[in-house]
Amino acid sequence: MRIDIITVLPELLESPFSHSIMKRAAEKGLLEVVVHNLRDYSVQKQKQVDDYQFGGGAGMVMMIEPIDRCINNLKTQRTYDEVIYMSPDGELLTQKLANRLSLYQNLIILCGHYKGIDERIREHLITREISIGDYVLSGGELAAAVVVDAVGRLIPGVLNNEMSALEDSFQDNLIAPPVYTRPAEYNGWHVPEVLLSGHTANIEKWRYEQALERTQQRRPNLLK
Ligand code: ADE
Repeated sequence: MRIDIITVLPELLESPFSHSIMKRAAEKGLLEVVVHNLRDYSVQKQKQVDDYQFGGGAGMVMMIEPIDRCINNLKTQRTYDEVIYMSPDGELLTQKLANRLSLYQNLIILCGHYKGIDERIREHLITREISIGDYVLSGGELAAAVVVDAVGRLIPGVLNNEMSALEDSFQDNLIAPPVYTRPAEYNGWHVPEVLLSGHTANIEKWRYEQALERTQQRRPNLLK
């Protein structure tokens, strides 16, 4: 999978994909993340990418032309499954949406800034708008990094069997059960006996019950 991210702050996206699972995904050739500096597509001398809004009002608006030029340039090189705009008023990112996006080959993600982007970009160039939660970030970069991480780890081959994404929280509308590691006793705090029993069926049953109980307590809406 290839993901092209368009941003005015490429520096913000230097680190998130250079470690751990995202780094492995890149090394295995399963995920390529390419970050584009929007200013490189400005036709103006000052490399301007934003302007005052028509009708007045505080806050600058991202201009059409650099974004259109950047997206068009990418589209001449390959076909994209979605052109995504990160926005607090977009569709909420869920595990289900991450699963769906992980099946695609090529994605563009546009990060917003300032007051937002010229509405005509949303009307004519964007195919999907995604929010990572009901709060406002200063820009779409961190939200884009969240999407790439959530999607990237689902690409077949990125995780090995022991870390199978199928057992993640939310995959079956349940929160994952608690986990423990050595030592089996610390400060008088004990690991549940069943996990030390070696009895696979009992362990499975215990994990399922714990997941159900946790979901009931913490996120009952998932069970509806
Ligand atoms: N840009 C600013 N806030 C955002 C959010 N919550 N989700 C996605 N993009 C954003």
